[in-house]
Amino acid sequence: MSRPRLTNKALLFVAASVAALLAIYLFWSFEGAIKALLEQRMGTNPSPSAGTIISAVKLLLIGIAGYIFVRALNFLFFFLAFRLKRIDAPTLIRNIFTIVAFTILFLIAFTFLFPDVNLGALFTTSAIFGVILGLALQDTLGNFFAGISLQADRPFQVGDVITVGAQRHTGVVEEISWRAIKIRTFTNHVVLIANSNAAREPIEVCPRDNLNARLVFFNTLYSDSPAKTIHVVREAVREAENVSTKVAPVVRIRNLGDNGVDYEVKYWLEDYAKYNDTDALVRQRIWYAFRRAGLNFAYPTRTLYVERHSLVAPRDGGAIVERLSAVDIFAPLSVEETGMLAQAAVRHVFAPGEIVIRAGEPGSSMFVVHNGRVRVQVNENGRARTVATLNEGDFFGEMALFTGEPRTANVVALEETEVLEIGHAAMKRVFDTNPDLVESLSFIIAERRQGLASQTDSAAPVSESSAGLLSAIKRFFGISH
Ligand code: CMP
Repeated sequence: MSRPRLTNKALLFVAASVAALLAIYLFWSFEGAIKALLEQRMGTNPSPSAGTIISAVKLLLIGIAGYIFVRALNFLFFFLAFRLKRIDAPTLIRNIFTIVAFTILFLIAFTFLFPDVNLGALFTTSAIFGVILGLALQDTLGNFFAGISLQADRPFQVGDVITVGAQRHTGVVEEISWRAIKIRTFTNHVVLIANSNAAREPIEVCPRDNLNARLVFFNTLYSDSPAKTIHVVREAVREAENVSTKVAPVVRIRNLGDNGVDYEVKYWLEDYAKYNDTDALVRQRIWYAFRRAGLNFAYPTRTLYVERHSLVAPRDGGAIVERLSAVDIFAPLSVEETGMLAQAAVRHVFAPGEIVIRAGEPGSSMFVVHNGRVRVQVNENGRARTVATLNEGDFFGEMALFTGEPRTANVVALEETEVLEIGHAAMKRVFDTNPDLVESLSFIIAERRQGLASQTDSAAPVSESSAGLLSAIKRFFGISH
């Protein structure tokens, strides 16, 4: 305790003692007169109530004086214990001493002033009193006994760094009282943890007189040698302030990370309460050591693989050109024209059972089966009926593309199927240079329509012949010749 605080306490003690003794002296001196006054006011002589009031006030005054006396005794006792035996008793023990001494004093005074009252019987027979007292003191007694067990176990002491509970309150223990543990956090806040709570929670203790370790993490580029890094960092850290000289710091690789080699340095502290400052100093030392040794911290890095699309033909363009040139309707096209078509083709992969095109929907592209198989299905009285199965090199979807009508059937992938989609614009370019192609296409469409009509009872009769289709396609694509 600081000197001015000690002086203030001594002055307060002297003043309180003088006031209490004076009050006792005056009350005892004027006891007769006060009693007579009370009896006169109460209208009875002698009055038992007046006697009880006098005794109660006496008990109160003795209680106050007794409390001051016990505190003085407490101070003297523990001061001497510290001076002579170097025993620094915890606050809880001091408080227990005060409570026990005061209770004994109070009970002596009580039996002296109220000889007729049987205190033992009062406490043992009054069940309600016991219940009320028990409920009222539930928390207090819980804290008190938890405090006693903490003192008995002594898992930590004043000056230790502890971390308490799920909320991880960390700080230096300042006091363990009969009610709570007082810790000072590293942001200089005081946290009070009730003893009963502390008894239930896990507590991480870093004792003052123990070599407590810390871990600090850092990383290097993959190009930096681990042996050199470990040596440089160990030497840099071992000389830092508050790093214990008793145990050499340990530097080791903890992970081969995404960005570089991840290390940890484990070091032991002289004063664990200063671990924040020491961690920071260790990081600083590592930075300077790296600078001198030419080592590099790893920055977040990513290796990017940039996909470059060929402007001439799509990737795997050869296979696509080969596939398209094998399609019978494209047979009349030149190599350049097939190449252009391949470039415009978009590849799609469908899972088995997936619908590639849906009957009734509008469509502005046709498809060539590149890999796999598809099934052409029409809806007949609510049930799907297969009209045709198309294999690699077959095409579909040309009807809607060339006539502008909705899709005439569902086309479903039978297995994992890759198709090449060719849009309206690409086909128009082809038609412009190969008008004969329109003719062969109109023939195929007419044939397929025929197939649809003959297999579907409800199908409309074919109204347009191949020749009619030809002129319709030419109109749709704006082909004049
Ligand atoms: P489209 O009408 O655009 O969409 C459904 C496609 O199924 C259709 O074009 C044709 O390509 C295809 N198709 C319809 N009927 C048959 C058939 N009988 N034989 C083969 N393919 C067909």
